[in-house]
Amino acid sequence: MIELVMVYRQFQHPSLLPALQEKYVVHRLWEVANKEQFIASISPNVRGMVTDHLGVSADLMGQFPNLEIITNFGVGYDSVDVKSATKNGIWVTNTPGVLTDDVADLAILLLLATARGLCEGDRFIRNGQWHDGPMRFTENIKGKRIGILGLGRIGQAIAHRAGAFGLSVSYHGPREKPEQPYPFVPNLVELAEASDFLVASCPGGSETRHLINQEVMLALGSEGILINVARGSVVDEPALVEALKQGRLGGAGLDVFENEPNVPEALLSMENVVLQPHQGSATNQTRIAMGQIIIDNLDAHFSGKPLLTPVNSVTK
Ligand code: 8YV
Repeated sequence: MIELVMVYRQFQHPSLLPALQEKYVVHRLWEVANKEQFIASISPNVRGMVTDHLGVSADLMGQFPNLEIITNFGVGYDSVDVKSATKNGIWVTNTPGVLTDDVADLAILLLLATARGLCEGDRFIRNGQWHDGPMRFTENIKGKRIGILGLGRIGQAIAHRAGAFGLSVSYHGPREKPEQPYPFVPNLVELAEASDFLVASCPGGSETRHLINQEVMLALGSEGILINVARGSVVDEPALVEALKQGRLGGAGLDVFENEPNVPEALLSMENVVLQPHQGSATNQTRIAMGQIIIDNLDAHFSGKPLLTPVNSVTK
């Protein structure tokens, strides 16, 4: 049987490992304390790798001389060193498409929850505060403006949903998409200025690192709400905490953080902030579908067929 190494498990659906084990020998790196010794003992036989948004460094992939393919459990592969992989003739695949709707749903859920104080209301009842009088008034979303950073598959699905809520949509990204019905704003600060809600749905990585900085957040303003379903790295987190503390940003709905699972302490006590533990794609249906893409890519590769969802191109 062909041998694989699985780097992490925590985010994957529990059905994936047993399904892989029907066809492959799967080495479970996340369980091993002495990784160096373990890798040395298995590495010559390993031909495939399964990872997730925590990625694979050039150093780790370099320890497997016969590695042919890295399958990334997630659409975002910013933590996989694709350049090194390509240089070493290693294919990289991701899991696009199947998670689009779930991530877009969560973006809208965070937007509504933040604007309408959903979690605050829940805490209000649980803490027995309702007996002392009604909760504060919140803000509606109808007729407001949503700016989307990254109008890819997920951004477009968010825009589509936003229309149903009566929001007007505009977007920013590396280039205009003339086929899209929404206005393109070439400057992110201008997009933030012209938005009540700013939603990050762009890829992570060095090109988008801290794109949402202090200037952008101040442009969004004291009534504005920031939603992040992309990567924590897209937002300058200390600047976000400062802007919220000073009341210069209205609120935030966050599914991703710069240093997961660590969340800045200051956010934990803010009523205008709604937090999620990187749950965008975390439904049974979507995680099973993501796992199936992993299996289908591995099966295709090891039977000499074209990959379903490669993100690089390898010539050998
Ligand atoms: C997953 C994600 O939570 O698709 C992505 O890029 O971040 C999420 O769908 C993650 O990849 C699972 O590890």
